[in-house]
Amino acid sequence: MNEIINPTKIIFGIDSLNFLGEEASMFGKKAFIVSYENFLEKMGIKNKVQNMLKKNNVDYFVFDKIKPEPDLSLMENGRDLFKKNKCDFVIAIGGGSVIDSGKGVAMLSINQGACIDFLDDKKIKNSPLPLIAMPTTAGTGSEVTKYLVFADKKNKKKFTIKSEKVCPSLAIIDPQLTLNLPKNLTATTAVDSLVHCVEGYLNTKSNPYVSALSLMSVKTIITKLNKLIKNPRNLKLREEIMFSATLGGIVITNARTGVIHTMAAAIEPYCHLSHGEVVGRMLPKVLRFYINQGKCRKEMVKMFQYIYGQKINSPEVFIKKVEDFILDIFKTNNFKDQNISEDLIDEFIKRVFMDKGLPEVSPININVKNIQKLFKIVLYT
Ligand SMILES: [Fe+2]
Repeated sequence: MNEIINPTKIIFGIDSLNFLGEEASMFGKKAFIVSYENFLEKMGIKNKVQNMLKKNNVDYFVFDKIKPEPDLSLMENGRDLFKKNKCDFVIAIGGGSVIDSGKGVAMLSINQGACIDFLDDKKIKNSPLPLIAMPTTAGTGSEVTKYLVFADKKNKKKFTIKSEKVCPSLAIIDPQLTLNLPKNLTATTAVDSLVHCVEGYLNTKSNPYVSALSLMSVKTIITKLNKLIKNPRNLKLREEIMFSATLGGIVITNARTGVIHTMAAAIEPYCHLSHGEVVGRMLPKVLRFYINQGKCRKEMVKMFQYIYGQKINSPEVFIKKVEDFILDIFKTNNFKDQNISEDLIDEFIKRVFMDKGLPEVSPININVKNIQKLFKIVLYT
């Protein structure tokens, strides 16, 4: 039996932003717009968004205090303002942090409690209020995922709520909104998406639907990201990478991420790298660990053949290509430059074991010996 989930309606393509007003009017009379500080002005879309909403009789309140890796307190602050301003639904315009914050506000505004109370998704008694997600990066796939990532910065912890209920109602995906994305963000966000697709493809929960989306996205990212980095104003390439990122979101909603993402959540509060760079640096070595355990060999050979149209006998050829791709972008594939103490590994292992769903999908056994080895390999070799 295979199950396929994508509860989010998707409007995709150049100029899809133009549908915002009409679509928003179907969700209520007052929107709570979530974004980074002064972001709509900086993107040059403030007047356009305001005019579209006004034309469709939708009032709005702007909450533009979102910072990367949103803290739980920020979502609670958003929830209070949402209620005080009597809003009906949320519009999130920004990267993954903004969309996740939008998910948090939409959920908290109709459920009693703080984000931390909903790690067990059965506690989300009421369906969150409608959320329109408009990504301005191409990577997290948050516009279609069932994941809400938030940080508890005081305690250096990163958490994920996993529930179909938090999927946005609508994703408006306009590649023009990524045209001004700096090169480093273009690269790190796309690499995050690459890791989503590879992990989803290799997970035991994968199915033919997930495989088709994963293969297509991995091929696009590996063969076209470097071209885009050299030609950042190429709208066609922006569109292709953005589409891959959205597909990557559908992949992980259906097949989950794997051990890389779970380990990354433990490491990230202790280093100064973006999420995409952390998971990207880890990718080649974790793949090599898989094949050394006799896992996923055929799948990696198949991925290579799909991407390059050539037959190979060893999955190492695929891993070498991935490694070269990662080194070309990040110049390193370990964390020696982050000075992460080996004393933290026991704490990291505990964090990995808090992810109860991982053993069900992981191609390798999630036991202390494997995870300890993996942390040592990815951090220090
Ligand atoms: Fe990710």
